Amino acid sequence: MTLSTDEVNRLKTAPAVEGVLPVLHSRWSPRAFSDRDVAPADLAKVFEAARWAPSSNNGQPWSYLVGLRDSSTHSKIAASLAGFNQAWAPNAPVLILGVTRTTFAYNGGANAYALYDLGAATALLVVEAAALGLAAHQMAGFDHEAASQALEIPEDYALGSVIALGYQGEPAMLANERLLAQEVAPRQRKPLKDFVFSAWGSPLDLK
Ligand SMILES: Cc1cc2nc3c(=O)[nH]c(=O)nc-3n(C[C@H](O)[C@H](O)[C@H](O)COP(=O)(O)O)c2cc1C
Repeated sequence: MTLSTDEVNRLKTAPAVEGVLPVLHSRWSPRAFSDRDVAPADLAKVFEAARWAPSSNNGQPWSYLVGLRDSSTHSKIAASLAGFNQAWAPNAPVLILGVTRTTFAYNGGANAYALYDLGAATALLVVEAAALGLAAHQMAGFDHEAASQALEIPEDYALGSVIALGYQGEPAMLANERLLAQEVAPRQRKPLKDFVFSAWGSPLDLK
């Protein structure tokens, strides 16, 4: 007997804080994905969210390689995943590889903020996905070299994360007990006092 998707979503929702967007509390990273495909119009919306992310010098260095189920891009991204991600992520109907150009297009100079900007764009992407009722789960656990080669990523691009995107499935569909335990575990976060400082190590007084 395990939890239903509704029960697990209630458990995963962070306590509401007035004035904070509810979607930021309800977004989480499931591993169980249903068979349901994502409509192209919804895919367009999640990339539109990434499109409007801020970036250093407005360089917009990010690109996303999108593998739809049964495509060679989906298979290549799935094949690059580490074993602990292979156990669940290939079930997602969409696998996305986020990459970022490490040189500025306008002058060829190094862009030290390329990965930072990709992360910012991807954060907006996953929040938009959650707002649309989609589930998104980012992964660093993949073979960068294998993915670069298989997907012919140009030399001056760095790899960020693979994102599994789709609709949340029933936790019971997961392949093993460890995945199931992760799926129903409450989400943990540090308190603000541990990372918001007025001077190094001194919590900012927010009362
Ligand atoms: C850059 C990045 C890499 C991650 N890599 C993995 C991964 O390889 N496998 C995995 O199962 N989850 C991965 N995650 C998901 C995190 O474990 C998850 O976001 C974190 O535990 C917080 O949980 P929440 O997103 O449900 O709030 C990754 C998340 C990010 C942002």
